Amino acid sequence: MDIARTPSNPDGNPEMADAAVDPKNPPEIRREDYRPFPWIVSETRLDFELGIDCTRVRSTLTISRNAKADRSATIRLNGDGIEATSVTVDGEPTQSWVMDGDDLVLTLPGDAHEIRIETEIDPSANSQLMGLYASNGMLCTQCEAEGFRRITFFPDRPDVLSTYSVRMSGSKDRFPVLLCNGNRVATGEEGDTHWAEWHDPWPKPSYLFALVAGDLVARSDSFTTMGGREVELNVWVREGDLDRTEHAMESLKRSMKWDEEVFGREYDLDLFNIVAVSDFNMGAMENKGLNIFNTKYVLADPETATDGDYDGVEGVIGHEYFHNWSGNRITCRDWFQLSLKEGFTVLRDQLFSADMGSEPVKRIEDVRILRGVQFPEDSGPLAHPIRPDSYREISNFYTATVYNKGAEVIRMMRTMAGEERFRKGTDLYFDRHDGAAATCEDFVSSIEDGAALDLTRFRRWYSQAGTPRVGVTLEHDGETARLTLTQTVPATPGQSEKQPMPIPLKLALFDRASGTHRGEELVILNEDRAEVTFDGFTEKPILSINRTFSAPVTIERDVSREELVFLAEKDDDPFARYEAMQELMTGHLVADVTDDVDDDEREAVCEDIARAMRSVLEDDQLDDLMRGELLMMPGATYVAEQMLVADPGRIHARRETLKTALGTRLAGSLQELYARTENMPFSLDAGAKGARKVKTLALAYIAASDPAKAVELAARQYDRADNMTDRQGALMVLAGLDSAERTGKLLDFYNRYQNNALVIDKWFAIQAGSLHPRAIEHVKALRDHPDFTLKNPNRVRSLYMAFAANPAAFHAEDGEGYAMIADLILELDPINAQTAARFVPPLGRWRRIEEKRAKLMREALERIAAAPKLSRDTFEQVARSLGRG
Ligand code: PHE
Ligand code: ZN
Repeated sequence: MDIARTPSNPDGNPEMADAAVDPKNPPEIRREDYRPFPWIVSETRLDFELGIDCTRVRSTLTISRNAKADRSATIRLNGDGIEATSVTVDGEPTQSWVMDGDDLVLTLPGDAHEIRIETEIDPSANSQLMGLYASNGMLCTQCEAEGFRRITFFPDRPDVLSTYSVRMSGSKDRFPVLLCNGNRVATGEEGDTHWAEWHDPWPKPSYLFALVAGDLVARSDSFTTMGGREVELNVWVREGDLDRTEHAMESLKRSMKWDEEVFGREYDLDLFNIVAVSDFNMGAMENKGLNIFNTKYVLADPETATDGDYDGVEGVIGHEYFHNWSGNRITCRDWFQLSLKEGFTVLRDQLFSADMGSEPVKRIEDVRILRGVQFPEDSGPLAHPIRPDSYREISNFYTATVYNKGAEVIRMMRTMAGEERFRKGTDLYFDRHDGAAATCEDFVSSIEDGAALDLTRFRRWYSQAGTPRVGVTLEHDGETARLTLTQTVPATPGQSEKQPMPIPLKLALFDRASGTHRGEELVILNEDRAEVTFDGFTEKPILSINRTFSAPVTIERDVSREELVFLAEKDDDPFARYEAMQELMTGHLVADVTDDVDDDEREAVCEDIARAMRSVLEDDQLDDLMRGELLMMPGATYVAEQMLVADPGRIHARRETLKTALGTRLAGSLQELYARTENMPFSLDAGAKGARKVKTLALAYIAASDPAKAVELAARQYDRADNMTDRQGALMVLAGLDSAERTGKLLDFYNRYQNNALVIDKWFAIQAGSLHPRAIEHVKALRDHPDFTLKNPNRVRSLYMAFAANPAAFHAEDGEGYAMIADLILELDPINAQTAARFVPPLGRWRRIEEKRAKLMREALERIAAAPKLSRDTFEQVARSLGRG
């Protein structure tokens, strides 16, 4: 489509093509259409008169021509659903502007001007949670990606960097705390109102602007940077939440220290504020000096947060803090470069969490997310490269591909360079591009130069979508082992032909008799095919490959069950050991679902898996956190992903059958494990966390084989629990089994925590995600629960994301689950389009599902597509899911 080049787009900015267009066919924005903005906005002054249902915004922009861009007679200021109440240029009211769709286009004669614009907005009516909105009586902003234009007219694109000075005034009573980016430079009061002036010395794009006004209290602390700067730290929450902020504050201080030590990055302001809000579309936001967080990633205490929640807080606090350099000091030139900041920052938060806890366990968790969420994205209708070529709505590209695969791609560079040289590369990157809006290409060149790597071919990872498949065969002849590697990158929408990409594979060859290997090697598969030989093997060795998951690919290897059991028991790389366990189970499940495995064969396989598990249960070298990983079954989505066309009902049933078989075979050891861990006193150290992890895992296996016993144990675990991990784990098991305890404990849980929204979210999610055969009915009833609301994204996700991820319920044969998600999308779309669009991908999987269900899924999508009015967000996801992208 050529809309981006029509005359109604005078500045040639691809971002701006979306004015005045057919809402049923929003235009495509293309990466290749990027043009620099014709104006420089050196200074931005904002004055907010704050009110919950009426906030007046006066903005003053100091602009001059950008010598590096084409000259333009006009300046286009983006808006979104706002009106200007006054426009002046150089102090004079002017008529020389027009509205072009949502944008304000001003004709300007000279080379430097001062523009003043006034707007009025109603934060209380903002249910999209983009721009300035009200949440529990407090005002806050969310501007990434294109929310600033809902506050005032502005060149709302990340390559326009400006220095912000902000004045805000409002009721002392309603908004005792007034926060903004940077440093507070002045305050004052007049009668019932007070005001504050803030100045941020670091030029930034509009998406990093933030403001908060409300009745908040802070946990305060300080951090002294490596350069000796004393930084004041605050975590702002509502009054009653203060005693749940310690972990967030500790995580922040650890993040600051870690970034100094590992990446040499120092914080650059005297103040760092974090604010928690309960209505938030995403996890958190890295606004300069004023991070805004979903309460889910701030609040934690043992009574209300699980070990997983604790890890989530630490990871997200780290992530947002690390953005101060990878995102804020160096930002993105345009939104196609999103992975520049997100992929890199995800890698940084992963490395941080690994250093704070268990490196191998963290790696396994990250790979599980990648394979459970990103691989399906890469093999479905929404597949896109980590640096996309086009989009209609950028909010749809905050994906597992851009974030998690983006992190994997940078991790591969690190693997190929080694830690030290990689650090030289990142140093060079920070050096070269500090203060600028950069591209993914800038990042790759910096790593290339700094780390002395040739990444010419490696760049294909940025432009090609799809998960590469690597075929592996190992032959043995005389004293030589010959490894043959092949790769294919599958076709994805819009990309039928692919080129080979460099794939770094860590491998080791094990000697069968001694159970050891001679050292790990790194082989880089650069072409379609490669052969590597290894000498000195009198017997055929056992291959351990893609150790630590050194490349985000699917390995297709011809490996015997006996070899997998060997690796599951003996591999010294914890990830490879986990992988062997997964492969054993996945291989069996795929066979069990597709061919009819006869009973003897099934017996034999189950016994092999049980044998490997037994050695995991008995291995006293293992810590429990790792043991838990090794005992976990592959998820149903991951199993489905291994098949061209899957029958989710069958996969679920066979997976449950395997769980029962293992539970039965391992009954004795599982009960021992349970008994060993049951009464471990609470602490947050790795030993106690590990104990809690394997305890509930054991309970889940027991539930599959001896439900009555499981109900008894779970009820006891629930009653005795002095922490949320144990209590939630027990309730999860109970929720899947019919019993009086199920009803009783669900009610108790609700009553106990009814004043804590985050815990009530768990209550919804546990029921929506449960193994109970009537989960779908429970979800329907919960939809009408007085605590359910479409206005709060956490609540919506807790009920419906848990449901969409519950294979048995979502894939109900009659299509009811699909219809429920379609109804939700239609109802939510006008309220919160961003959140609504996130429910489309589960339906978009239809091509990979057996035909009866596929038809029902497609019908659900068609019904959404036929709605008279759809947001750009939902429109794009539905169109692409139906193959009409
Ligand atoms: N940039 C945020 C992060 O990754 C995510 C986000 C995107 C938050 C868009 C809000 C809106 O840390
Ligand atoms: Zn991020």
